[in-house]
Amino acid sequence: MLKNTENVYGLITIIFHWLMAISIFSLFGLGLYMVELTYYDAWYKGSLDLHKNIGMTLFVALMLRIVWRAVNITPKSADESASTIEVKAAHYAHLALYGLMAILMFSGYLISTADGRAIDVFGLISIPALPISFANQEDIVGNIHEILAWTLILLSAGHALAALKHHFINKNNTLVRMLKVLPIKSLNITTKELI
Ligand code: HEM
Ligand code: HEM
Repeated sequence: MLKNTENVYGLITIIFHWLMAISIFSLFGLGLYMVELTYYDAWYKGSLDLHKNIGMTLFVALMLRIVWRAVNITPKSADESASTIEVKAAHYAHLALYGLMAILMFSGYLISTADGRAIDVFGLISIPALPISFANQEDIVGNIHEILAWTLILLSAGHALAALKHHFINKNNTLVRMLKVLPIKSLNITTKELI
């Protein structure tokens, strides 16, 4: 089952979610590591290029993911005991994650193209700079990029804790349905019955 249904996530959403989550955590680690390197370190240029290439690939993946979400149903909460406020909070937290991912990646693009040069993604596609730029763009947006990266990582850590709470404490299938494709009518099945 590729598409989402009213109760469960489909394979495409699951693949997008986990490939992007792993890549984002990796890019965060790589980002913190690479800014400590100096020009004379062997991996100075390589690490920056890798960060930019994966970052821009993620940017494209995010656009596709948002389109996929828009043409799909978003499953309703798997936690039947959740209050309306909790359901709304989860919804807005997800929107915040999408928004943060987008502006973090866009800010990375603005740092890398501050000097007017295009980004060559894996030597395959050249993404041009915007026709306009502002003074100290690289430094100013560099600081914003760092703050946004930390904010996204902290928010996703809270989000992961919430998923683990649903699994181990509330014992519903919130996490399991993001890990594997479940039978369509599985909303009322407990976690224990699914694993
Ligand atoms: C989800 C995606 C991304 C994450 C989690 C991420 C994370 C980070 C982190 C943690 C740093 C180190 C910040 C610091 O300590 O100063 C960094 C730096 C940097 N990132 Fe990203 N980044 C992402 C996407 C991108 C993209 C799409 C690009 C550009 C195409 C990019 C370009 C850069 C550049 C050029 C730096 C160096 C900035 C400097 O020298 O101050 N990043 N990134
Ligand atoms: C950088 C890391 C992550 C990001 C950016 C992220 C982002 C998101 C987003 C945007 C959604 C909403 C999907 C939709 O459109 O319906 C979502 C759902 C979900 N995520 Fe993550 N996620 C991350 C990491 C994790 C981790 C580490 C876990 C588990 C330990 C996790 C568990 C879940 C679960 C269970 C759902 C489904 C929630 C529901 O059914 O309401 N995520 N994630």
